[in-house]
Amino acid sequence: MKFLSSRRRHRAVRPLLLVAALFLTGALYTVAVPDERSSADAGTSTQVEEGRALFAVNCSSCHGLNGEGSSEGPSLVGVGAASVDFQVETGRMPLAAPVEQAPQKENIFSREDIDAMAAYVASLGPGPEIPTEAQYDPEGLTAEQIAEGGELFRTNCSACHNFAGSGGALPNGKYAPPLEGVTPKHIWEALRTGPQQMPVFSEEVITDENVRMMIAYLQSLEEEPTGGLTLGGLGPVSEGLWAWIVGIGGLCLFAVWIASKGARK
Ligand code: HEC
Ligand code: HEC
Repeated sequence: MKFLSSRRRHRAVRPLLLVAALFLTGALYTVAVPDERSSADAGTSTQVEEGRALFAVNCSSCHGLNGEGSSEGPSLVGVGAASVDFQVETGRMPLAAPVEQAPQKENIFSREDIDAMAAYVASLGPGPEIPTEAQYDPEGLTAEQIAEGGELFRTNCSACHNFAGSGGALPNGKYAPPLEGVTPKHIWEALRTGPQQMPVFSEEVITDENVRMMIAYLQSLEEEPTGGLTLGGLGPVSEGLWAWIVGIGGLCLFAVWIASKGARK
């Protein structure tokens, strides 16, 4: 084998390596890609199945076996994953018994369970998805943007939630809850899904950036409550009342003082 010099062998290695690499890539592709795809499919359909099972046990008595609704609860077709996330995470759902307005309570489900039920409800019809942090995180907004958030809040929300976000009563024993301590994600979800009497504020009306501005404004209220003094944070009404009491009280004292001076004369 004298004619096969080491130099020739060396040259033959390169194309061989290339063929081997191509073969390996091809093999990896056929193994990895369809595998990934099928596992992703299986993942979501298992999640939807899990959600369907959880829903049947916990929710179907009011919302129907296929989420179509009943006399006890509305149809959930098209309310979206965000609505399920909001309702379950704030403890409003599952409702224990029919009431005027589902109260907030301790959430009894794990993250996985909520995601599964949300995926199931989302599979019934398209609706708002659970937002990513970038959609609601108010980090990095300027002072002007926060002030604009206040403007948006006063225009769109204060009629029900009060200008300081401290909530208010609505007709028929219903109420708009105080917004202090509500998480940014739940604020986003409330806007996009419109629970109860609250209107839906869609992306076309109020962009995600607008929502972030309002969240930043609400957080700024929590940092420095309006009025400086603790007047209950109820805004102009109670502050006006306070001024009224102090003002009238002062006038009374003044009148008494004048009267006593007059009496001494
Ligand atoms: C006892 C009956 C009852 C049970 C059980 C119940 N719900 Fe509800 N659900 C209601 C009623 C009534 C409403 C509407 C009134 C309200 O929001 O206060 C509602 C509203 C909702 C909404 C808001 C719909 C919308 O228009 O955005 C969602 C989402 C929801 N329920 C999901 C669930 C899920 C998920 C479960 C199970 C974990 C569940 N519910 C269990 C009665 C029920
Ligand atoms: C027509 C009255 C009305 C208007 C306007 C309104 N809301 Fe609401 N909002 C409600 C009611 C009623 C609820 C309670 C829903 C429930 O309990 O199911 C609510 C609930 C909420 C919640 C959930 C609070 C919680 O404790 O989980 C948030 C957040 C919220 N609203 C923010 C806003 C913002 C921000 C705006 C303005 C863009 C707004 N709302 C405009 C009536 C209103």
